[in-house]
Amino acid sequence: MKRKKLMKNLLINLVEKNKKYTEEGKLASYIPALLKADKEALGLCVVDIKNNEEYWAGDSDVKFTIQSISKVVSLIIALNDNGRENVFKKVNVEPTGMGFNSIVNLEIRNQDRPYNPMINAGAIVTTSLIFGENEDHKLQRILNFLRRATNNPSIDINKEIYESEKATGDRNRSLAYFMKSSNILEGNVEEVLDLYFKQCSIEATAKDMARFAAVIANDGIAPWSDEILISREVCRIVKTIMVTCGMYDASGEFAVHVGVPAKSGVGGGIIATVPKRYGIGIYGPALDSKGNSIGGIHILKDLSEELELSIF
Ligand code: DON
Repeated sequence: MKRKKLMKNLLINLVEKNKKYTEEGKLASYIPALLKADKEALGLCVVDIKNNEEYWAGDSDVKFTIQSISKVVSLIIALNDNGRENVFKKVNVEPTGMGFNSIVNLEIRNQDRPYNPMINAGAIVTTSLIFGENEDHKLQRILNFLRRATNNPSIDINKEIYESEKATGDRNRSLAYFMKSSNILEGNVEEVLDLYFKQCSIEATAKDMARFAAVIANDGIAPWSDEILISREVCRIVKTIMVTCGMYDASGEFAVHVGVPAKSGVGGGIIATVPKRYGIGIYGPALDSKGNSIGGIHILKDLSEELELSIF
């Protein structure tokens, strides 16, 4: 059978095989609008970097909000705007072993800066470091970057989810005001949080996310145009932090079973980057206890075995 057909069949089989796990997962409920998702949805897209071919199966065209996957975006832009020394003065690069919105972690374990840019506290800091004349300009910079990095000019925020996040975002407010009181976070806290809620509410599909992942996996070069969208150095840093912290307190287990830089979001998305080989985007809104897509993790485990994806 031809290579293309084999790949397509593999993805179809993996969606069928792993759909059963969606029953064991739960939709994120702390942002009420996320409860409207179809719990059984599951799909993925794989971009083969060498020939810019796209393969997909299942619910790969369903829009979802990227949530914590946006932390990769704000980290990239903050690194470009400020340079790595200035960013890592404000946010560290160590895994936490704790939940993504842990408050105790911020107070007891690290007084001077959040543990890493992939937990909420760290991402609120990187968002605060994005340059722009005003909040709308900063949002437009985030959207424009992602439109280019997904090759999709219609990427935008989902207003209903943004409003739901803003209305129920008191945990993030706690983290942000705590950081303001300890001089970690500068500027207007409400404005920083508003931008953070908006970036989390950006909508995309698994296909969009696979293209974004492919750019990162390809050292910042878009496979469809050969344009440099991110520097090689920023990609290297971002992929390293994705390996150690991208799947939160499940990052170690994910590194053992899948073994590629990845980032999840509570909207059910995962991006996985296989250096120089594949960009992978997954959608499956039923989550495990750590807040990662349960069907998505199972698919990635199988895909990693089938295609020998682990970088280790
Ligand atoms: O700030 C929050 O809690 C959400 N907007 C994003 C959290 C998230 O996606 C964690 N991911 N697994």
